[in-house]
Amino acid sequence: MKDQENNLIRKAYEEIKKKQHLVKKDPYRLKFHIMPPVGLLNDPNGWIDYKGRYHLFYQWNPFKTAHGAKFWGHYSSVDLVHWETEPIALAPSDWYDKNGCYSGSAIEHQGKMYLFYTGNVKDDNGNRETYQCLAISDDGVTFEKHGPVIHLPEGYTAHFRDPKVWKHGDQWFMIIGAQTVEEKGVAVLFSSKDLWNWNHIGPIAGNGLQQLEDFGYMWECPDLFSMGDKDVLIVSPQGLEPKGDLYQNIFQTGYLVGKLDYQSGVFKHGSFIELDRGFDFYAPQSTLDHKGRRILFGWMGMADNEENAHPTVQHEWVHALTLPRELVLQNNKLYQKPVSELTMLRDELHSFPDYKLEGDHVALPGVDGIIMELNIDQLQVDEKFEIQFRHAAILQIHPKINKVSLGRKKFNSTDYEYRHCSISNVGSLDVYLDTSSIEVFINGGEEVFSARFYPDPENEEILFSGKAEFHLKKWDLKI
Ligand code: FRU
Repeated sequence: MKDQENNLIRKAYEEIKKKQHLVKKDPYRLKFHIMPPVGLLNDPNGWIDYKGRYHLFYQWNPFKTAHGAKFWGHYSSVDLVHWETEPIALAPSDWYDKNGCYSGSAIEHQGKMYLFYTGNVKDDNGNRETYQCLAISDDGVTFEKHGPVIHLPEGYTAHFRDPKVWKHGDQWFMIIGAQTVEEKGVAVLFSSKDLWNWNHIGPIAGNGLQQLEDFGYMWECPDLFSMGDKDVLIVSPQGLEPKGDLYQNIFQTGYLVGKLDYQSGVFKHGSFIELDRGFDFYAPQSTLDHKGRRILFGWMGMADNEENAHPTVQHEWVHALTLPRELVLQNNKLYQKPVSELTMLRDELHSFPDYKLEGDHVALPGVDGIIMELNIDQLQVDEKFEIQFRHAAILQIHPKINKVSLGRKKFNSTDYEYRHCSISNVGSLDVYLDTSSIEVFINGGEEVFSARFYPDPENEEILFSGKAEFHLKKWDLKI
């Protein structure tokens, strides 16, 4: 199917040519986040530090700002800050992936890069088929497809996808997101000695297993890795009911900390904890880099959530990835820290040591703009502290009720919508603002809020309200 593959790839490049002038004109085009050249981007895929270069692939529909038969787009970087566009890696050209080269992962083996991904197929009657496929590359840039290595085992529906592969001891393991025939979401483990022949071990976590009751009809994009003497499973369940401030988005992403017994395939774990408290975070993927850091990218988007209401759609693109975050496990809780390389972006500094705030809508000289890093340290809040970002997002700290809230203007009205999280003693905030995104890291990544937002492109105002004391640093960013 090389002809069909080349054909699709040529069409995708034509689409970029045709529409990129519109993307470039968009005031909401992001300056330091990964976004698609045109079309729709979703999950990060194949995330790997390979031969001294970071390679990051992504789910991509080049033809529309809607979901469809996904390609794998590809960027690479040496420093996690500056990214280069690489040639399209995978196109949905073959019988086993004709309706989408869906999400998957990368590993290095004997100097080659191996991609495992899901071939999504709809037959003539619209029935879904799923194949876990392999593609191999000698250089990390051009890939040769080798077709399915796993067919759907019994006991699951065709919602069976997103292989993440890693090595443990002298064996390879793969975790897959799945739905059982009883329509329960689970994460399924496989093992292999040679990367070609895979042995189905079974579900290691999921709805109805261990303490997880009513825990979703489908689990997507599982990612399992060890941290110290623990194992962590990150997963994106679908079908959780909102519970107080929890599970407020249509789909969730969170993690389970425990210990996987590789012999028996039993994963004993604690309770599910949401990874991000904002509006736009899903299907993250992590990798271990050459410095020994576990680095995570998430999709800074959400499926089915008014995707067409993003104003970027008028400019022929939609969605982005989060900043890269280093994961650290502290007391069984994952902290997410923006990688230290991001300090490379820092330019002019405006600093307000020992600042005493008292009043509403206070502007600090130089603390305004469209893209910036804002750092607040040694924060002491008396009652309430609030930061308004460009009249389109608002961060509120309520120490009396141990809560932090992020509000944003809805995409198609002037009303605000909110997300909340429980946290006591908020001592520091690190906020990254891009043209149309906000990421807030609280207490060195103990809690994180990620969201897209769409301020008036001309508005540069950052306003502080409440009664609080803090050290404030604001950096302009050089892009
Ligand atoms: C998650 C997801 C994956 C799937 C991909 C398709 O956002 O639904 O389960 O592989 O997106 O684009």
